[in-house]
Amino acid sequence: MGRAEKVVLAYSGGVDTSVCIPYLMHEWGVKEVITLAADLGQGEELGPIKQKALNSGAVVSLVEDGREEFITDYAFPAIKANALYENRYPLATALARPLIAKMLVRAAEKYGADAVAHGCTAKGNDQVRFDLGILAQNPEIKVLAPAREWGMSREEAITYGEQYGLTFPVKKSSPFSIDKNLLGRSIEAGPLEDPMCEPPEEVFEMVKAISDTPDEPEYLEISFEKGVPVTVNGEALGPVALISKLNEIVGNHGIGRIDMIENRVVGIKSREIYESPAMCVLVDAHRDLESLTLTADVTQYKRGMEQTYSELIYRGLWFSPLKQAVDAFIEQTQERVTGVVRLKLHKGTARIVGRRSEKSIYTPDLATYGADDKFNHESAEGFIYIWGLPTRVWAQANK
Ligand code: ARG
Repeated sequence: MGRAEKVVLAYSGGVDTSVCIPYLMHEWGVKEVITLAADLGQGEELGPIKQKALNSGAVVSLVEDGREEFITDYAFPAIKANALYENRYPLATALARPLIAKMLVRAAEKYGADAVAHGCTAKGNDQVRFDLGILAQNPEIKVLAPAREWGMSREEAITYGEQYGLTFPVKKSSPFSIDKNLLGRSIEAGPLEDPMCEPPEEVFEMVKAISDTPDEPEYLEISFEKGVPVTVNGEALGPVALISKLNEIVGNHGIGRIDMIENRVVGIKSREIYESPAMCVLVDAHRDLESLTLTADVTQYKRGMEQTYSELIYRGLWFSPLKQAVDAFIEQTQERVTGVVRLKLHKGTARIVGRRSEKSIYTPDLATYGADDKFNHESAEGFIYIWGLPTRVWAQANK
């Protein structure tokens, strides 16, 4: 008896997921493997991937376009929450996993599969996100993770695959592990495991080296409606086009590279390189627009919720009750987050240089130091007397 009869496997065309196909069949007795490649804008040729899965032994090879759903239902909520894990990582990979989990379960139900599978190893975050995402959708379905158990090195996995007629292109020897979608690229392993090793230029694709960026600054205007980005330089764009366009404009100025030591779910510290141009400026611009449109207490309280939200995404809890509750809070705060943010892009930095909103609660005649000031100056002294009472009492007691 095998571990399952019919399995839907998350498939990327890479070494591990390819080897999973024969492994599931020959080692774990699975009768039929259906592969699912989710197009989340990774820009990979998906035609060849479809065929490759069939050549590797899949009975059905699905390729599904998840781009619009990815941006609308995953990236936009993250932007509303200004979600940056450990204050830096815009969560490109982490946001993709719950959607892929959902797609896997949908396919499994459609094809009557009794299990779903993924090619994640035992040390990463992605296994946690897949497993939890899948069981949140369907707690009955089995989750198989061959690469978590097989204990083969990369070279051994390649040799194993070759036994079953799989072929691997020469670039298999790239030492980096790379995950890629519309929201960015995550790069790890190889020489980058040394925290002191500067990432070689060749690992970057979306964000240019400063030496290759334009000498002249460029202005960029992004407008938001209820916290959702809707136009770039005045042009209304759909979710996918908007992100793609921003990736291009922003990456061209060398903005959006991140190099960090990050705390994984499984307790390991890891060195991560990211490039995430659109998300970096979107979160910055969105947060700035909030400063114009939200009250002080909501803004400040929301910071704590944002951190919780990032951690929930990072730790695989996208489909959790706490995440839903925090979503409701965030959504409520976005009612007035409508307006335009103006940025100046130059040599690796995106500086915010202006913002405006018809929902602004910035009050010029209170803020001004000019003649048309409406602030009641006499009140300040009385306010400070009362505000300062506890300080006065404490100081006296401790004299
Ligand atoms: N550390 C990042 C995260 O946990 C990126 C993971 C990259 N995944 C990969 N399979 N290369 O979200």
